[in-house]
Amino acid sequence: MQLQGRTAVVTGGTRGLGRAVAQALADAGAVVVAAARDVQDAQPDPVAGGGRIVQVKADVTVPQSVEDLMRTAHERYGGPHIVVANAGVSRPGPVSVLSGEDWDTVIGTNLTGVFHTVRAAVPFLQEAGPGRVITVSSLLGRRAMPGAAAYCASKAAVERFTEVCALELAPKDITVNCLSPGFIEEGQGRALMANEVLWPRLRDTLAAGRPGTGAEVARAAVFLASAESSYVNGAVLPVDGGVRW
Ligand SMILES: NC(=O)c1ccc[n+]([C@@H]2O[C@H](COP(=O)([O-])OP(=O)(O)OC[C@H]3O[C@@H](n4cnc5c(N)ncnc54)[C@H](OP(=O)(O)O)[C@@H]3O)[C@@H](O)[C@H]2O)c1
Repeated sequence: MQLQGRTAVVTGGTRGLGRAVAQALADAGAVVVAAARDVQDAQPDPVAGGGRIVQVKADVTVPQSVEDLMRTAHERYGGPHIVVANAGVSRPGPVSVLSGEDWDTVIGTNLTGVFHTVRAAVPFLQEAGPGRVITVSSLLGRRAMPGAAAYCASKAAVERFTEVCALELAPKDITVNCLSPGFIEEGQGRALMANEVLWPRLRDTLAAGRPGTGAEVARAAVFLASAESSYVNGAVLPVDGGVRW
């Protein structure tokens, strides 16, 4: 699956799962614009496979920031042809005490941020075509976990949003699919695994007997970004090794 000549934008591409996805897309030959609020290095970072990763500052909660991100990617590298709406946050807490601010942060980033990202990308994806959009939900988008109301709600909504976008954008030669990772040894998943009360119970639900790796999620992202997935549209692809829950 080769991505030479393709430009990808990965929101939240500087850390955790997003970083693993950015790396895999670059290894497949794409120029990857990894966007986040806190970027450390704007210099190109050459990688094996002919691709490279560049970091650009952007905040997905701010529409103008995401529009600037897409324009910057287009002017510097062409495209973008691939957009991975990965940036996400979590604010755990029971509904009875969850603050409105935490709720807004989660929904504003995980759901409205995905909307801003996709909307800003569409004109560029359509012009560069064929376009690929990959959103990122979670196992918790279809399974309820006490203490994760805002996160679960945001990820369930991302899945329906993805399916609507897939129908709307297919005539523009853009596919829109969603990755739904389970428990992954990367980013927020690492914090969960450090929870000595919760993690032993969750670990017992893993059919594979182990959590996934960032690279395993990233390989699925490369497939959805590639020409090989040309007739896959509106899919929610679990990458969770099988979970008994
Ligand atoms: N790790 C897992 O086990 C797991 C499982 C299922 C789903 N997921 C999903 O996978 C995605 C990545 O999660 P992760 O675990 O890799 O998280 P992470 O390590 O916390 O990384 C989150 C990334 O998003 C960026 N980000 C956060 N808010 C942003 C904003 N407003 N604008 C732009 N960038 C922003 C962060 O950079 P800055 O803070 O510098 O902006 C960072 O690069 C999320 O959507 C998450 O819900 C993860």
